[in-house]
Amino acid sequence: MRKILLRFVAFPLVLLAGVIFSHLLHLYVHPECTLRDFSYSYPFEPYEHFSISSEEKMKIDEILNQKFFYLGNGKQMTAYLSQDGKYVLKFYNPRSFVKREWFASWKKLKQMITLKFFADAYFNRKERIARLARRNKLAFLELKEETGTIYAHFNDSTQLDKIIQIQEKNGSYSSINILRYPFVLQKKVNIASEYLSFLVRGGDFEQAKQVVYSLANLFINRSKKGYTDRIQTLHNNYGFIDGEAVQIDVGRIVKIADQQISEVASLKTIFNSLKRSIYEINHDLGLEVEDTLDFKLQQYYCDIDSIK
Ligand SMILES: Nc1ncnc2c1ncn2[C@@H]1O[C@H](COP(=O)(O)OP(=O)(O)O)[C@@H](O)[C@H]1O
Ligand SMILES: [Mg+2]
Repeated sequence: MRKILLRFVAFPLVLLAGVIFSHLLHLYVHPECTLRDFSYSYPFEPYEHFSISSEEKMKIDEILNQKFFYLGNGKQMTAYLSQDGKYVLKFYNPRSFVKREWFASWKKLKQMITLKFFADAYFNRKERIARLARRNKLAFLELKEETGTIYAHFNDSTQLDKIIQIQEKNGSYSSINILRYPFVLQKKVNIASEYLSFLVRGGDFEQAKQVVYSLANLFINRSKKGYTDRIQTLHNNYGFIDGEAVQIDVGRIVKIADQQISEVASLKTIFNSLKRSIYEINHDLGLEVEDTLDFKLQQYYCDIDSIK
């Protein structure tokens, strides 16, 4: 009896405890990922080969001739800024990053040992990254201007055989061969909420209004192209380049099949969310832009009606 208990109860429990302990230890030692974690051995199949012109390749080549410096990260991607400050090189995170201080919080510890965390980090990784890569590919092929995308790299078909020097978050430098890293190359933006707050603080309401309208136009153009984004986290997923709005994070874009019906409703929700965000940044700015935003939405409805 004791033997059976030991074999079927105690042993699996000890094994489970060992797995959880090793997992937490690994997270404690590597709370964030570094460059070597962004290289994946699997190619992003089934991506059909899409070619780039020799001019495009030259431009990408030229941009990648510079050093890059850690800029920031979200849940899905980590961004590095080019030395000239104009471009961002983004890699796919293998898993969510954690913070060392989380180890002092029981609630966070529990989150780190949930099945969901395990699944996202280890079992669904390829699927999750492939899903994001598919969206980055759509952005590159169909929403280049709207997303500031210069290139989306998935496998070695482009022959971009380059060694790049990159500074990590901790200040150390690594040299990597970019060919082995799936990445997105994008124009650098001024993050939307930061830039709007900066304009408001400086009293430049005219420019603040213009960039809000530019955001509204971006949402309208994106809809007209048949895309929407169900989650509007305006504050850090959008930005401006020379006052023009750009969506930097395409992790949630969706192509809409039935453009006429669902998209009109979705754009209204997006405009309401935009208005709320502007009011949060500055109430007076919210009041100033509200009527024009409503007018733009009405205009969009009319355009859609005339197409029907
Ligand atoms: N083109 C860009 N210009 C400026 N900052 C960027 C750019 N792309 C990414 N970043 C920075 O990196 C962070 C993560 O990038 P993002 O594309 O939003 O990935 P995630 O899907 O992980 O949120 C952003 O919140 C922003 O701070
Ligand atoms: Mg983001």
